[in-house]
Amino acid sequence: MDATHKSGLREAFGGTPACRLSVAFYARVERDPILRPLFPGKSFTCAIEEFTAFLTQFLGGPSEDSQRRWWLSLRESHARFEIGPKEREAWIAIMVQAFDDVQVEEPMRGELLGFFERASAHIVNRGVAGSVNQDRGSIHHHGAHAEISRRWEAHTLLDEAVTAIRSGDAGRAIALAESPDLQLCGRSVLTGLLSSMVRCGQRTMLDYVNGRLTRDPALTRERYAGRTLLHEAAAAGRLATVELLLSLGADPNAQDGGGHTPLYSVGNECAAGGRQCGSRLGGGRRRRGCPPWRKTVYASSHGCAARQRGGCRGTARSRRQH
Ligand code: HEM
Repeated sequence: MDATHKSGLREAFGGTPACRLSVAFYARVERDPILRPLFPGKSFTCAIEEFTAFLTQFLGGPSEDSQRRWWLSLRESHARFEIGPKEREAWIAIMVQAFDDVQVEEPMRGELLGFFERASAHIVNRGVAGSVNQDRGSIHHHGAHAEISRRWEAHTLLDEAVTAIRSGDAGRAIALAESPDLQLCGRSVLTGLLSSMVRCGQRTMLDYVNGRLTRDPALTRERYAGRTLLHEAAAAGRLATVELLLSLGADPNAQDGGGHTPLYSVGNECAAGGRQCGSRLGGGRRRRGCPPWRKTVYASSHGCAARQRGGCRGTARSRRQH
């Protein structure tokens, strides 16, 4: 049980908290003329799951509850939409109504609103975000205020680390991954960050990941967005990391949210280094025609999870972010 459980931040929503707020929020988004066009799909199921996973992750909930999240960086996950002050105001107004729907009371109401104001300003990518009331909620509830502030600081460091990885700035990315402040995001998020480094493939980052795994082999069992580091290393064709993970006890049969093993990642996502990774993962030697791990892909694709059939584009999303 971590500090968040003790401070009751998650309990402020009542029970399985984030979910009720998320359902209420998106029920209103569906009817909103400004926000609805940003969500062209018919169903809001995926949006509800992802927002729930984000809140669970942000509030320090158990990592198994946060597997529906596909993006590490909040800013990056919104970069493909045009979000200006008008969209931000609409988003905040709907959130306030959702607070009423699920009866989020003071002092937590003020705390969460303060957090959403800061987070939404961070996301705005067109025009000027507008003001943020930094003091909202702090008068009532110093403990929760300090905790949300610390968690938000950690989250902005995470966004910065993702930007550093994307731009190939290994020094900055590694310094942030090592920073004690970022550890507040939890080990699932750290795994996601290491996965992004593996996908990036820059030598210094790969060496760092391999060193970090050697220091902390339990990371082989952690997951981000339902996937282990072995899934990611296999998908990216990083043979040395695949071998290291296997030697540290990573499970070659671990299944992601869609029921796919790392071998599936080799066949379905791997551009280079696939043959060697596939054989290390038990894919066998290539015979004539289709490589064995590709056959596994075709076989296991029938077992796709409902959420992938239902259009959340989980695998595609997780690929896009690397
Ligand atoms: C500023 C106004 C905002 C707008 C207009 C907006 C809009 C959107 C849109 C269009 C999506 C994509 C849904 C899809 O792909 O189906 C999305 C996803 C998401 N939004 Fe927002 N959003 C806003 C603010 C926020 C804030 C303040 C948070 C968190 C505090 C947040 C958390 C998320 C999360 C977690 C996802 C899912 C992305 C993922 O997979 O991680 N959004 N948002």
